[in-house]
Amino acid sequence: MVSLLPKVKKLQTTQNKISISCICVQGEISDFAKCELENFIKEKTNLSLDNAGYKIEFLVVDEKRNNEWYYIDVKNDNMTVKAVCEEGVYRAIQTIKQILSQDMYVSVVEDEPGNAFRSFMLDVGRYFYPVEHIKKIIDYISLFKFNYFHFHLTEDQGWRFESKKYPKLTEIGSKRSHTNFGIKKEEGFYTQSELRDIVDYCHKRFIKVIPEIDIPGHTMSALACYPELSCFDRKLKVSTHWGVKFDIMCAGKDFTYTFCKDILDELCEIFTDEYIHIGGDEAPKKRWELCDNCNAKLNELGLDNMEQLQLYFANYMAEYLKSKGKQTIMWYNKFDENDKIVPDKDIILQFWGTKKDTEFCDVVNSGRRVITSNSSGYYIDLPYGYITLDDSYNTQGVTGIENTKSLFGYETCLWTEYVKDIKKAKFNMFPRVLAISEVFWAGEKAKDYDGFKTKLPLFNEYLKKFDVKMPRRGIYNPNPIRKFFSKLWFEKRQLVWQGLYLTIDNFMLKRKIENQKYKRREK
Ligand code: ACM
Ligand code: ZN
Repeated sequence: MVSLLPKVKKLQTTQNKISISCICVQGEISDFAKCELENFIKEKTNLSLDNAGYKIEFLVVDEKRNNEWYYIDVKNDNMTVKAVCEEGVYRAIQTIKQILSQDMYVSVVEDEPGNAFRSFMLDVGRYFYPVEHIKKIIDYISLFKFNYFHFHLTEDQGWRFESKKYPKLTEIGSKRSHTNFGIKKEEGFYTQSELRDIVDYCHKRFIKVIPEIDIPGHTMSALACYPELSCFDRKLKVSTHWGVKFDIMCAGKDFTYTFCKDILDELCEIFTDEYIHIGGDEAPKKRWELCDNCNAKLNELGLDNMEQLQLYFANYMAEYLKSKGKQTIMWYNKFDENDKIVPDKDIILQFWGTKKDTEFCDVVNSGRRVITSNSSGYYIDLPYGYITLDDSYNTQGVTGIENTKSLFGYETCLWTEYVKDIKKAKFNMFPRVLAISEVFWAGEKAKDYDGFKTKLPLFNEYLKKFDVKMPRRGIYNPNPIRKFFSKLWFEKRQLVWQGLYLTIDNFMLKRKIENQKYKRREK
């Protein structure tokens, strides 16, 4: 049996097992890609390298094909690999690694992706991941042919992106005094040179990078450094605990717009690919409702409510990015196409709800570009009790959409409230990333879950070469009792949520502001 993952478009096998002992890699292949394949052969197989060995010959052909297309022809004494550019060569190498790791019964592989946008998101705002671990994660996703890395760089709990213009963001904003789960400090940030190195690391693997600066919500780490960004110039702290915060950037002050544009300038210098993510999720309007500046802005713009003010803010940033030659992605929030203001048509909306979201179906059908990170299957931060391997494979990008061609892209998200290090990240990723990579690469119409499951034992072995030990089936597809306890264990989070503190703080602030307004009126 031959097991390739993600499933390839066309596979022909043969009864004659090809036996080889040493290999020679040659032809039209970059030094980097050649080195990757040769190192794999040397370090992770029983084969050796020898100029007189079995030839793997790369040819870049002049054909009208997808850049990721490749064709592998396996003969007894040589293998020919065709692609139209280096990108296809690189994807082919990932398949060749798999072929060389099993009994060689392959005769022909022809492959290309069913989806052009296959993304993996890592949140480094909650927990900081050192550069070497980021690279390890990039190695993993490149093995399974992901082509975008969404780098969620800022959160209430930590600002990880070095800004030369606003140095306090990392001096203060990259540190939290403790976490939900312990008394230990949590801190870290990436220098601009480290970030450039990560971008370069991705590009060599034909992975584009989408940096995210999440605004206007989830910005406590920035507000703690620059109180003037908040509605009432509040003295705030980098959040220690997770959860949605009421303090967000003020949309009524000029400084907020200047600050965000400055940050976007620095971001665009480092992240040279076409997409920038501006977040926009979970931004409660409690402060904006009370704030004179936000209300003045709302009135000046003639908008109906604060949700519309957030859309104005997002469109403003998207317009700015457009002037810099970038395209904007933002988290989808419900809106009505008949409202006074709607997201700019050029903005790509990222869906993060569950499969029951019928309104989102309308958005997809309206022709807007959307990325799905359907949290019923692709949120791999959640425990296996919530998102089983079955769910990751079988969840639809958007339920209720007949023509999934209108989806612009797919993304799986690794949030890190509960994923504090690479060890836990690997546990959460595998085997779910295997399932997801197959859905993303081969496309939803090509799904074959039974076929996928038969490949798991072999990929359990394959992943051991890369320092990954997959959990047992009882863990990734738990029975109802284990599911119940997995959920119960996870839900203990309620005990460490700061909801009560936020409610009291909100009440006190509201009273203070209302008193101030009353006193002003009295005068
Ligand atoms: C999100 O899950 N808050 C995008
Ligand atoms: Zn405000």
